[in-house]
Amino acid sequence: MPPLQNTIVDSDGNAVKLALFKDDDYSNGMQRQPEASLTGKQITVGVGGGIAAFKAAHLISQLRQQGADVQVILTRAGAQFVTPLTFEALSHRRVLQNLFEDEPLNHVHLAHNSDLFVIAPATYDLIGKLANGLADDYLTTTLAATQQPVLLCPAMEQQMYTNPIFVKNLETLRQLNYHVLEAEAGTLASGRSGLGRLPEPEVILSKVQSMFSNGPLTGKRVLVTAGPTRERIDPMRVISNRSSGKMGYAMAQAAQAMGGQVVLITGPTLLDEPSGMTVIQTESVDDMFEQTTSLAAESDLIIMAAAVADWQPKEILEHKEGKAGKDSLMLELVPTKDILFHLGQHRHENQIIVGFAAETQDFVEKAKAKLKKKNADFFVANDVSKAAESDENTAVLIAKDGSEQSFSLMEKSALARQVLESIVKASD
Ligand SMILES: Cc1cc2nc3c(=O)[nH]c(=O)nc-3n(C[C@H](O)[C@H](O)[C@H](O)COP(=O)(O)O)c2cc1C
Repeated sequence: MPPLQNTIVDSDGNAVKLALFKDDDYSNGMQRQPEASLTGKQITVGVGGGIAAFKAAHLISQLRQQGADVQVILTRAGAQFVTPLTFEALSHRRVLQNLFEDEPLNHVHLAHNSDLFVIAPATYDLIGKLANGLADDYLTTTLAATQQPVLLCPAMEQQMYTNPIFVKNLETLRQLNYHVLEAEAGTLASGRSGLGRLPEPEVILSKVQSMFSNGPLTGKRVLVTAGPTRERIDPMRVISNRSSGKMGYAMAQAAQAMGGQVVLITGPTLLDEPSGMTVIQTESVDDMFEQTTSLAAESDLIIMAAAVADWQPKEILEHKEGKAGKDSLMLELVPTKDILFHLGQHRHENQIIVGFAAETQDFVEKAKAKLKKKNADFFVANDVSKAAESDENTAVLIAKDGSEQSFSLMEKSALARQVLESIVKASD
């Protein structure tokens, strides 16, 4: 293997001195952002041999922009996809690849001194090695020697991602307190669609930022529902409502900003998926019920902000029903499943459940009655005639003990933050 160079040339043609572990001699005038969220953090990025290795380049650049000192460890297979030079130019550090040639004892130093390890992409092979205690290269040996947090970002074809051996290995690592950022669904390298895509670098960055956050929800798992539901009448028509999803999305983002690990279960909205959290798209109440109840047990805080339909057609018509030859059409509706009621019945100790009540009249009184019936801890009552589709909202937060707190008209993002701060404070 050729000896590593001490300097490289960056994209502007400047000679950049490579450093190992010290970040004090950058000579090309690179400016750090004054309010960078990762200033002073030593992050080691492990890049495995997956097609998504190219995304690691963007991730490293973003981590650096947020003030982190980044050391890259590239596996032999990883170097088949992206050259070390790319990572050296972006990290301003020598890339570590060969356990016996590249500063042989530095793996111990790195294992101790890194604040966080991010493995992206974490391949099927790497996950298998880590779960089974193998350490035959720089990356796996360093990880074997560390007690610092490790974030695994798996990426592979769906068949590999759902392979029971992989699922078992990943679960083993989860049980051992490895952090996992689940792969996303989308187009994979094979051209097929499926689960296994590496989340975009922005999503990984947000996850890293939330891991360093020391907000009041740090380490807490937060489940949020948002948006409307759609109940099918026939293959084309649906019964839905005017909820934009903005308040629920704002609650999810407020929880994330407070350090929470957020899963957002959303009905169909026109909003962009927020980054840095797991987003699950649903359509009907039945979909939302299934997703919410399957994640509820592992959630510390559940915020039910979705505008869930109360009624659904008794039967879904097989074909679109036209007007020809008819004066009227009767649609028989039956009640939908009550998600919040179910969660209230199956809640566990220390779990906090927050319901939302959107009404057009007597909204505080109705919310109080619902809080009791559904065994929730808090209810956020709002006047739906003002809130629907708007960027602003008012609310009354009602607690289990009957106390009320009113919030005046403000942007939904500010309202979400204030409401959540009150909930966190009252639950201390
Ligand atoms: C073109 C190509 C693409 C690959 N993409 C992936 C991938 O996305 N995810 C994965 O787990 N393995 C992928 N592999 C297989 C890994 O490269 C292989 O298992 C390797 O041993 C992983 O090494 P590592 O432990 O250093 O990551 C790919 C292989 C090839 C040839």
